[in-house]
Amino acid sequence: MAISIKSSREIELMRESCRLLSIVHKEMEEAIRPGMSTMEIDMLGEKTIRKLGCIPNFKNYNGYPASICVSVNDEVVHGIPSKQRILQEGDIVSLDAGLIYKGYHSDAARTHAVGEISPEAKKLIEVTRQSFFEGIKMAKAGNYLHDISNAIDAYISQFGYGIVRELVGHGIGTKLHEDPQIPNFAQMRRGPKLRAGMTLAVEPMINMGRADVEWLDDDWTVVTEDGSLSAHYENTILITEDEPEILTLY
Ligand code: MF3
Ligand code: CO
Repeated sequence: MAISIKSSREIELMRESCRLLSIVHKEMEEAIRPGMSTMEIDMLGEKTIRKLGCIPNFKNYNGYPASICVSVNDEVVHGIPSKQRILQEGDIVSLDAGLIYKGYHSDAARTHAVGEISPEAKKLIEVTRQSFFEGIKMAKAGNYLHDISNAIDAYISQFGYGIVRELVGHGIGTKLHEDPQIPNFAQMRRGPKLRAGMTLAVEPMINMGRADVEWLDDDWTVVTEDGSLSAHYENTILITEDEPEILTLY
């Protein structure tokens, strides 16, 4: 399928969808504290999305049972919120959220510290975040999609971390997942040419140990096979002739 190019009207709607999502992330980040259940984060996220007049796009997506993905420590992504799962001082928690505003989707993820965390965990979170910024330095009209993938891989490789291969970034717009798929590891081919008006969710998922992941019996939660910590950082961006616009930053 072709990669959609958004009109200026659609870009305005994407900007607003993403701006509202950045507010949801800010609310959740400020609420995080030891003793909180992952379900409470989901409830706060969903309440904020609805208060803003939007719809949580993850809810019921392929049967996903919540609005926010809350993934703790060795959970990579798609952690299902639970009343029983209580955040502890020293944990890291990845929050992945999205919403629909006037038919347009936004998607973003961040990994946060719960209280004081180890220097190693801090570094993993920071390097994962930075790999997104290294990747999108290449995200401009005329470059190729896999320039982004290759830049993320080149940056992460210096640290010896594992780049998750089973899950990738994606185009986004009137659907949560549009073409193209955006791998976070080096590619043989250059991929499609980037054009102004493409909106993309770039989302490196990085493990402190090996890259391998497995799925839990709930059919959603992805965990590292070796039990090492994992971090996630995602924004929805707009491709332009120059620097990309990062639409989901607060
Ligand atoms: N942000 C994720 C993604 O990009 C989460 C969607 S999974 C869901 O694919 F099922 F929870 F929606
Ligand atoms: Co995404």
